[in-house]
Amino acid sequence: MREYRIAAIPGDGIGIEVIAAGLKVLDALAARDRGFRLAVEQFPWGSDYYLEHGHYIPEGGLERLKQFDAIFFGAVGAPNVPDHISLWGLRLPICQGFDQYANVRPARVLPGITSPLANGNAIDWVIIRENSEGEYSGSGGRAHRGLPEEVATETSVFTRTGVTRIHRYAFELARGRPRKHLTLVTKSNAQRHGMVMWDEIFYEVARDYPDVTTQRVLVDAVTTQMVAKPGRLDTIVATNLHADILSDLAAALSGSLGIAPTANLNPERRFPSMFEPIHGSAFDITGKGVANPIGTFWTAAMMLEHLGEKEAAQRLMGAIETVTGKRIHTPDLGGEATTEIVTQAVCDSL
Ligand code: IPM
Ligand code: MG
Repeated sequence: MREYRIAAIPGDGIGIEVIAAGLKVLDALAARDRGFRLAVEQFPWGSDYYLEHGHYIPEGGLERLKQFDAIFFGAVGAPNVPDHISLWGLRLPICQGFDQYANVRPARVLPGITSPLANGNAIDWVIIRENSEGEYSGSGGRAHRGLPEEVATETSVFTRTGVTRIHRYAFELARGRPRKHLTLVTKSNAQRHGMVMWDEIFYEVARDYPDVTTQRVLVDAVTTQMVAKPGRLDTIVATNLHADILSDLAAALSGSLGIAPTANLNPERRFPSMFEPIHGSAFDITGKGVANPIGTFWTAAMMLEHLGEKEAAQRLMGAIETVTGKRIHTPDLGGEATTEIVTQAVCDSL
């Protein structure tokens, strides 16, 4: 029997609820499949843990995580901890420490879900987000705090290595999809250094992929394409911040932020990759039992695919689509089902 070691980090807010639901579904899947087993260890590294201990990740924590095959992550962020502290305390040290430079965000309108777009069924996108540098490099500083002369800089960092590898990853992924079409998102008209290099390297890498068609679109213009001509887009590569924004738009256009999954990948597999729903901790609905677990289930399917369990991943996607198709929906999708009802329905369908 194939066994995979999974580190579960539920984190904060509804992260705790959806990861519990996700583990339940994964258990049902493994019991049904009998070909593989998941050995799950839970890590309590959320904001409560931070307030008690003064850190999210304890000494040696990343070393411990290295021994796992994958990380199943809920969300981080709490009302009583500044967001930049929680983010830089937990999620970014894992993404950056494990060189998870490729963030993959598929978007599609699942059966039984209504897109706010009339032509929403044309949405079938994969957004590839550069996940290790760019606008999230953490480079910059503040001086003369509180004085009228106060100054702050937030520097985007683009390296040839970082840009080349994300474009190459995007071309590979685009090549594996039926349309073989890759959109380069940029802002090189206004940002004349990093973004110009971003474009140049894209076209250097493109020479190795003559079978992939490309288009270059400015980030502001691509938002209108997503809304007005969703079928024109397929695979999309964008910088850390641009893709952050575009993926929220993509999720909303596919029906709800509650269904959107993501994978933070270290494609070379030197380190474990991390899988999480994109919605965040959502304290406004925490504890009410109505968090949409679909984003986490889809995330779990991406994790299984990464682990090489393609059949199980497909079976899980099938069960998810059966349940959304029956309109067993949580309130974010206009339904009245609870997290538990949706979870049970997916388990039953499996
Ligand atoms: C995401 C989230 C995070 C990000 C937040 C929580 C900082 O919005 O994964 O898209 O911007 O990376
Ligand atoms: Mg985001």
